[in-house]
Amino acid sequence: MLAQKQNELLTRTGPGTPGGKLLRSYWQPIATEDEIPPGGAPIPIKILGEDMVLFRDDQDRLGFIGLHCAHRATDLSYGRVENGGLRCLYHGWLFDINGKCIDQPAEPDDKKFCHKVKHPSYPVQIKGGVVWTFMGEGKAPLIPDFQFLTAPEEKRTAFRVIQECNWLQGLESSTDPAHTSYLHRMSEGPGNARSPQDAKFFSDDIHPRLGIENVSYGCRIYALRKMSSGENYLRVNNYIYPCGTTPVTSAPPRAQGYQGRWYVPRDDFSHTRFEFFYQHDKAVNKPALRAIRAENVTPDLHHIRNASNRYLQDRDEQKRDDTFCGMGRYIPAHDAFAIETQGVIQDRTKEHLGSTDIVIIEVRKALLNAIKQLEETGQAPGLLYDAADNRFPDFLCTADYIPDGEDGPAYCRRILAETNTKAAAE
Ligand code: FES
Ligand SMILES: [Fe+2]
Repeated sequence: MLAQKQNELLTRTGPGTPGGKLLRSYWQPIATEDEIPPGGAPIPIKILGEDMVLFRDDQDRLGFIGLHCAHRATDLSYGRVENGGLRCLYHGWLFDINGKCIDQPAEPDDKKFCHKVKHPSYPVQIKGGVVWTFMGEGKAPLIPDFQFLTAPEEKRTAFRVIQECNWLQGLESSTDPAHTSYLHRMSEGPGNARSPQDAKFFSDDIHPRLGIENVSYGCRIYALRKMSSGENYLRVNNYIYPCGTTPVTSAPPRAQGYQGRWYVPRDDFSHTRFEFFYQHDKAVNKPALRAIRAENVTPDLHHIRNASNRYLQDRDEQKRDDTFCGMGRYIPAHDAFAIETQGVIQDRTKEHLGSTDIVIIEVRKALLNAIKQLEETGQAPGLLYDAADNRFPDFLCTADYIPDGEDGPAYCRRILAETNTKAAAE
């Protein structure tokens, strides 16, 4: 349970709010690279309470500027890409990729006042197949070089979807290891994206032992289950400052596939969920991932199962125990149901947290501490400015069978020591 003041601190992200300042201290993903190909149309993007437009100019340079024209606010995403910028359709004002007004064709030459016009703009960079922006003040940090962002292109791919609730509910669904045994439980068989071996983890041990510890980039999260086969099944996920997670998506032993996820506020009542699929040991199956997505997400980036159709819940599917929730086998739709029905901003003064909510409690603490640290020192945690520091020897994301008597932290110390020694020898 949180006091109302703490809930406000964590969930309010508009300009000037403490939570908004924290989120603006880091680069944030805004769109996938393939949404804005050379010659492609501008895209309206809402982020952290600001309406923006992402576009490529006629030299294919990316710009991220205010959506509403500085003249009289017409939507620039409908504008013409020409003459070194984006031209408003209403009276032809032209803005370059830095938001500079470079033409006011309706004004006579002696009355033009482009130099007086201030239009919002933020820098952009591409990494991991995604366009990122930095909306903070002062020197921009580096975008972290996690493997799922820097790996060869065939090993990664990225998507995004809009969800209709506060960003923190999205983040909390992704850091919570306990809900998989309920919300996502499903029978083996056709349509189950998981291997039969891995599917068992949903149902074999429904009260996992959880743990969490602080690391340089956020928190490492452990969930240990005793399988019916007798094996100790450990999943290691992560929370990454300020709004990222890395859930495992492949099976033990020593699972090699996971997702990076970012939950970026559009405003306080909706957010964009980014998914970075990554497979360490082989290429990701992009056509299969695209096909699953096309079946479940609309072209305007919303879940096909949503509140307006009660998530297409099928009570017969539920009775047959094909799925626990009766909402098909596309896991992100289950999560959307769980978080959107909490209310647009969950009232955390009324919740009742138990022992398996330890990860939720600790990640909230990490976020509140990060806000405090930023306010007191002007510096948010985990920011990197030197390329030599942009590496993560303490990062691990996997699922594995571990020996009796070993726990999550001990397992990670063992595996990271092996991996880092091997990397140093190469
Ligand atoms: S509103 Fe854009 S040019 Fe007038
Ligand atoms: Fe989930």
